[in-house]
Amino acid sequence: MENFLPFALPDIGEEEIAEVADSMRSGWLTTGPKTRAFESAFAEFIGEGDNSLVALAVNSATAGLHLALEALGIASGDEVIATTYTFTATAEVVRYLGADPVLVDIDPRTLNTDPARIEQAITPRTKAIIPVHFGGLASEMEPIIALARRHNLKIIEDAAHALPATRRGRMIGSLESDATVFSFYATKTLATGEGGMIVTRDKQIADRCRVMRLHGISRDVFDRYTSPSTGKPVWQYEVVAPGYKYNMTDLAASIGLHQLKKVRAFQAKRAEMAARYDAAFAGLPLMPPPQAPAGDLHAWHLYVIRLDDSVRIGRDELINQLSARGIGCSVHFIPLHLHPYWRDTYKLHPTQFPNAQQAYERSVSLPIYTRMTSADQTHVIEAVSDVLSI
Ligand SMILES: Cc1ncc(COP(=O)(O)O)c(C=O)c1O
Repeated sequence: MENFLPFALPDIGEEEIAEVADSMRSGWLTTGPKTRAFESAFAEFIGEGDNSLVALAVNSATAGLHLALEALGIASGDEVIATTYTFTATAEVVRYLGADPVLVDIDPRTLNTDPARIEQAITPRTKAIIPVHFGGLASEMEPIIALARRHNLKIIEDAAHALPATRRGRMIGSLESDATVFSFYATKTLATGEGGMIVTRDKQIADRCRVMRLHGISRDVFDRYTSPSTGKPVWQYEVVAPGYKYNMTDLAASIGLHQLKKVRAFQAKRAEMAARYDAAFAGLPLMPPPQAPAGDLHAWHLYVIRLDDSVRIGRDELINQLSARGIGCSVHFIPLHLHPYWRDTYKLHPTQFPNAQQAYERSVSLPIYTRMTSADQTHVIEAVSDVLSI
C-alpha cells in the first residue's frame, strides 16, 4: 500500500553513511578501530564519568546475553530466573548453556518482572536473574538487587529496549548488576542493523567475554596487527577456549558511533511523541503505557496501549483496522509460555502467568520512532480514536 506507515524504521543520517563509506575505503571492514572507538564512547555515555565501566561490542544482544551468562559460569543443572513477557532471546541463551530458564509473571503496573515473584521462584539451583526493561521502562532494580545479594545470585540486565533509560537518576548499565546487555537491532533506539553491547564493571566477566566473543582467541585480530609492542609475532595467537563468533564489524560500529551522538535527542523526540499519544488517548477506553517515575528517563522503544475490557472489538480487530488505514502495529510480546517450545518443554500454562496473559490479550504496540512526522502521528491518533469510538 502506498503511504503505509511502517511499525518501525531506523533513523540513519548522512553522518552514518559517510562513516560506513570511510570504513569501506579504509579496507578495515571487521572489528577494528571504529569498534574500539564505539566501545569507549558507549562506556563513557553509560558511565557518565564513572571510568570503571567496560563496554564490549558484539553482533547482537542475544550474543551478549549468551556471553555474559557463560562468563558467569552458568551451566547444565542451573536455573536462571527470567520473565515470560519478553522476546525468546532472553530465555534461549540460558538453554544454549544447558541451563533452565524459570519464567515468572510480570507486575501489570510496570509490565516488568515482578520482584516478589522472582523471590518465590528461587530454588537451590538458581544462579542468576535476567530482569528485562520492557519497552524501555527501567525495572524496579532495588528489590531485585537486594534479593540477589540475599540469595547470592548474579544479575544480567536485558536492556535491549533501554537505551537511554535511568533508574533513580542512574543510567541503566551503570547499576550494581554483574552485566547489562543492549541491542542495536534495526528497530531499536540505537540501530546498527545487527549489534549489541555488554557493559560490566567486573574485570573477570569482561576478560572472559572478550575472549569468547572471538573463538576463544587470546588476542583479537586488531590487537595482533596493531600491537607489535607485545613482543609476539603478528601471526601468533592462542586458542584458550572453544569460543564463539560474536564480534561486531567496523561497518556496524561506524553506524553506532553516530547513532550514539544522537541517542539523547532521539529519546527526547520519542518522549515527546509518547506524551502526545497519552494526551490524545486520555478519553479513550484504553490504558496508556506505564510512565517512568518523575525525574527518570524512559527510552520509549515501545508505546504499548492496553484495551479496556469494555472495548467491543478485540485486539486483533484493532490491528486489522489500523492496517487497513495504512498503519503498521505490532504486539509485544507473545509471552513465552504460549510458544510451543517453551510451553511443551517446561509444561507452562497461561494460568501460571495471569498478568502477562491479560496484558498480551489486550496489548497493541503503536508506531513510535523519530522518522515519523507530526502528520504521521496525527494519522495514528485519528485512526485509533476513530476505531475505538465505533
Ligand atoms: C527483550 C529483548 N531481549 C533481547 C533481544 C535480542 O536482541 P538482538 O536482536 O540484538 O539479539 C530482543 C530483540 O528484540 C528483545 O526484545
